[in-house]
Amino acid sequence: MTRKGIPERLTWAVDLLDPAPGDRVLEIGCGRGVAAALICARLTTGTLVAVDRSATAVEAARRRNAEEVAAGRAEFRTAALEAARFADGSFDKVLAVDVNLFWVRSPDHEVTALRHWLTPGGALFLCWQPPDARRVGEITGKVAPVLTAHGLATDVRTGRTATGGSLVAVTAVKPSATGRTAPR
Ligand SMILES: C[S@@+](CC[C@H](N)C(=O)[O-])C[C@H]1O[C@@H](n2cnc3c(N)ncnc32)[C@H](O)[C@@H]1O
Repeated sequence: MTRKGIPERLTWAVDLLDPAPGDRVLEIGCGRGVAAALICARLTTGTLVAVDRSATAVEAARRRNAEEVAAGRAEFRTAALEAARFADGSFDKVLAVDVNLFWVRSPDHEVTALRHWLTPGGALFLCWQPPDARRVGEITGKVAPVLTAHGLATDVRTGRTATGGSLVAVTAVKPSATGRTAPR
């Protein structure tokens, strides 16, 4: 845990995401909305849409971020990623923290959708704090090739919590006309 009881995986992931003030951000599996609050704190004209398949989690996330919802900066939807629908090019950045569907089964269907929803040059950040450090290789070995196969420029970042826990992120950028391959 960091100061204010915020788990380090979430501050690490949001620092990596590095939302710009005007970014349109999608968070998948927002849980109780802790990362959402960190993201909204960095937005001015930007917006956050967060989805989670748990209605209880979404209700808690809405309560935690009530001011951001009232200001029109954040929206929380009860939805499984598999069933979510957004227009093409809706998001500049997409974040998921500790959402295991991307490595426990084929995420082909979801990655196809995410590629459509990202704007050209937009970036996807899939982050985990695995309970066992040996899982890092397994996760990256399963996730990175799928993203690459979808034509995304893929990279792996790792980190450590203050107590030595492993942090890992697989990042992927949708190609743009300028050929950008690293997250902004
Ligand atoms: C381990 S929790 C992590 C919550 C939060 N991201 C965090 O790191 O504190 C995983 C969350 O993802 C949600 N989730 C798992 N699979 C999902 C899916 N297919 N679509 C939407 N939400 C999902 C769960 O309901 C849960 O709230």
